[in-house]
Amino acid sequence: MSAQSMSPLLRILHLEDNPTDAELVRGMLEAAGVDCAIRRVETREAFQSALEREQFDLVISDFTLPSFDGLSALTICRHKKPELPFIFVSGTIGEDAAVESLKRGATDYVIKDRLSRLATSVERAVQEAQSQAERLQADEKIREQAALLDKARDAICVMDMEFTILYWNRGAERLYGWSVEEAVGQSAHDLLFRGNVSLLLETVKQLIRQNEWQGELHKNSKDGRENVVESRWTLLRDALGRPKSILLIDSDITEKKQIEAQLFRTQRVQSIGAVAGGIAHDLNNMLAPILMVTELLRDELASEQSRKMLDTAKASAQRGAEMVKQILAFARGAGGEPKTIQLKHLVNEMVRLIGDTFPRSIQVESRVDKELYPILGDAAQFNQVLLNLCVNARDAMPGGGRLQVGADNAVLEGKRTPMFPEPVSGKFVVLSVVDTGCGIPPELAGRIFEPFFTTKEPGKGTGLGLSTVLTIVKAHHGFVEVV
Ligand SMILES: Nc1ncnc2c1ncn2[C@@H]1O[C@H](COP(=O)(O)OP(=O)(O)OP(=O)(O)O)[C@@H](O)[C@H]1O
Ligand SMILES: [Mg+2]
Repeated sequence: MSAQSMSPLLRILHLEDNPTDAELVRGMLEAAGVDCAIRRVETREAFQSALEREQFDLVISDFTLPSFDGLSALTICRHKKPELPFIFVSGTIGEDAAVESLKRGATDYVIKDRLSRLATSVERAVQEAQSQAERLQADEKIREQAALLDKARDAICVMDMEFTILYWNRGAERLYGWSVEEAVGQSAHDLLFRGNVSLLLETVKQLIRQNEWQGELHKNSKDGRENVVESRWTLLRDALGRPKSILLIDSDITEKKQIEAQLFRTQRVQSIGAVAGGIAHDLNNMLAPILMVTELLRDELASEQSRKMLDTAKASAQRGAEMVKQILAFARGAGGEPKTIQLKHLVNEMVRLIGDTFPRSIQVESRVDKELYPILGDAAQFNQVLLNLCVNARDAMPGGGRLQVGADNAVLEGKRTPMFPEPVSGKFVVLSVVDTGCGIPPELAGRIFEPFFTTKEPGKGTGLGLSTVLTIVKAHHGFVEVV
């Protein structure tokens, strides 16, 4: 097959009443090597029906015809086939009419005296129509892709090398708070990296060296919040390989980061618990004989002074033993066979106990869901949890206040908690202890579960209360929240 026969046949609709002129046009095109199939029509009806029923690549039209006219044909063509190239070939067309025809959407006009121009005009018109069609297709594709990008949860942004934002998807609107209209055309440096020029420049330097960059960044959002994002940057280059723009894809990991930090703290509490447990066990073994000996020796000592000294030693050893007992409770985790517990009884018992022993200035209330789910676990340990929380509440209200203990059912779905890497779902019982005391300063909130962290005077608190609560609750597949 020769190359020429492979070139596509040009299908032309020719509106012309004069057969001689029509032949002239055909001859001109053939002479120029344009491989074409020409369909000639003379009337409005024939023109219209050919346009509707057949496929053409081009229209050539005379300007004046006995029963029809070129401008009307152009109007019909633009209406039915807006993209189809339309060339006037006429002997009578004047300057004004020619300009008018172009205004109305004609592609070109060729005067019959200069018909040699026709082939070039046809070729150019067809080529332009083709690239126009390709442009439309490309535009369509870009629109489709943009719609897809808007579906992405990640924030996607394109900026030029001066950091001017060129593209901003819905994900970016959601994460950073600025709408497309507010962001596009703005400087990413002002919007996202407020006051951190050096970081931005350093990142871009690396990007130019490696074409890609990935890392964790802290970026501002419109309302002043700081987001932690996992950011991926890709350098886009122009046809000559020069850096042209930067594509940024940011995933929000703010919450993940917070949870990770808390999880890390929880794990630290557990490992400290294990170590403390070991030490406490040994200390217990050492303290037991000391306590025993102080008992036995007392009767052997003659002088009052010696007995006093021994009593001091005994009191000290007892305080040590007491502390060791607390450490052991903290380190123990889940112990023994779990049993079904009705927390209602535990709560009521605890409320009675604290009602009897706490200062009168503290008003105690309790509220328990009537149909409270039973739980599986160790009742003594839950007593300890409630007691530790209530004692903390008491200590937080030296001048008195209200203490509420509650137990409610909760059905959770995909709840993120610091205790577990995965979100939790299912039926839970929420034990709550609320006081009207001094509250926990936000800067301490992250530390209160650490073993031995206390703000109380030496000798008053060991700082093991909340870490014990945490260990026990975790051992029962629960989690702790400070609200
Ligand atoms: N209800 C509360 N209100 C205000 N601060 C609290 C409350 N509960 C705990 N805290 C703070 O958390 C710290 C740690 O509490 P935690 O129960 O672990 O130890 P502690 O009460 O100091 O000592 P321990 O319980 O071992 O006797 C407390 O020292 C206190 O600063
Ligand atoms: Mg405490």
